[in-house]
Amino acid sequence: MKVLLTGGAGYIGSHTCLELLVAGHEVVVIDNFSNSNPIVFDRIESICGRRPTVYQDDVCNSDGVSEVLLAHQIQAVIHFAGLKALGESAEQPLRYYNNNVQGSLSLLSAMKTAKVRILAFSSSATVYGSPNIIPINEDAPTSATNPYGRSKIMVEEILRDLTVADDSLHIALLRYFNPVGAHESGLIGEDPTGIPNNLMPLISQVASGRREVLQIYGDDYPTVDGTGIRDYIHVMDLARGHVAALDWLQERKGVHAFNLGTGQGKSVLEVIQSYETTTGQAVPYQIVGRRLGDVAACYADSSLAERELGWKAQLSVDEMCRDEWNWQNNNPNGYRK
Ligand code: NAD
Ligand code: UFG
Repeated sequence: MKVLLTGGAGYIGSHTCLELLVAGHEVVVIDNFSNSNPIVFDRIESICGRRPTVYQDDVCNSDGVSEVLLAHQIQAVIHFAGLKALGESAEQPLRYYNNNVQGSLSLLSAMKTAKVRILAFSSSATVYGSPNIIPINEDAPTSATNPYGRSKIMVEEILRDLTVADDSLHIALLRYFNPVGAHESGLIGEDPTGIPNNLMPLISQVASGRREVLQIYGDDYPTVDGTGIRDYIHVMDLARGHVAALDWLQERKGVHAFNLGTGQGKSVLEVIQSYETTTGQAVPYQIVGRRLGDVAACYADSSLAERELGWKAQLSVDEMCRDEWNWQNNNPNGYRK
């Protein structure tokens, strides 16, 4: 298939780009490189011998996007492009709504112009807010406590409205849980700018000595050891989930939500232990107070994706830690020299 990836230079987009190329698809990327580096495509080429066609542009430029869709006779789009920092979204809501909601509207108009009907949208487990029942299935109610989460819910709702008005659309809402790790080559991985917010890159920075100690946000949650539980998923499993979703979507009209997680919850302490055992690196930590807005436990019921898409995450938390460390250790400054 000829597939456009918006935000295809980013963390999840680049790993998905690689998997699509390996699976024989033709890939075109539009990215404004606001949170990524075009060097990633050289790395992708050195892994698989192929590279996508790349345009530096903003998804808010609807005319530019439709020109690319038409020029390459694109059949399907995966819409990764967006901003993703929860805290920042509360400080800069307009920027987040412009990028995430306006960007999606602009892409959708371009797709309409170019008659592209297949779309996979990068959504998030954040749309479940503070879940009442875990594991969480796709029918759980949605809610948000910050503009980032609300932007994902808004786009999901817009996509539902579109499929009511136009029954020729094929749309998947892919709700990612906690993507971590990197390609096993250590050539591509997550390259957060500034201070990371997420657990795994912070653990790596402590393990590599860039940071002295990891702060664990709370050990008084009602969980196995008191620390927060999440559903960490290897980014390569997630990438393969996109390939499976695109294949499935070709024959399915309407809008379909899928959890992309492993279905297994791990606590912060369990992840640290796994990291230390697999990499041989010490991860000193201290317990501090809870982080505002955190939930005790969040993990997926991933059975729908397994049943429908024929996709199931394969890689263990040990493998996530191994590959995360391999990437960090080989690229202490990310893609910057
Ligand atoms: P990322 O920041 O690494 O990648 C996003 C890419 O989009 C970057 O390359 C960035 O330069 C590009 N981009 C941003 N705004 C753009 C715009 N207006 N026009 C063109 N390009 C633009 O993030 P990621 O972790 O790869 O996340 C990809 C998607 O998945 C995002 O929509 C994010 O909200 C969603 N998601 C991520 C996570 C996670 O933990 N990483 C979890 C759930 C959902
Ligand atoms: N944690 C720490 N110390 C840290 C960072 C995190 O103890 O320095 C803990 C958190 O309290 C939580 C767990 O590690 O228990 C995971 O935290 P992350 O920030 O890595 O992940 P979250 O589940 O909190 O948030 C992530 C994404 C959001 C997304 C959400 C739901 O960052 O964008 O998953 O999909 F909305």
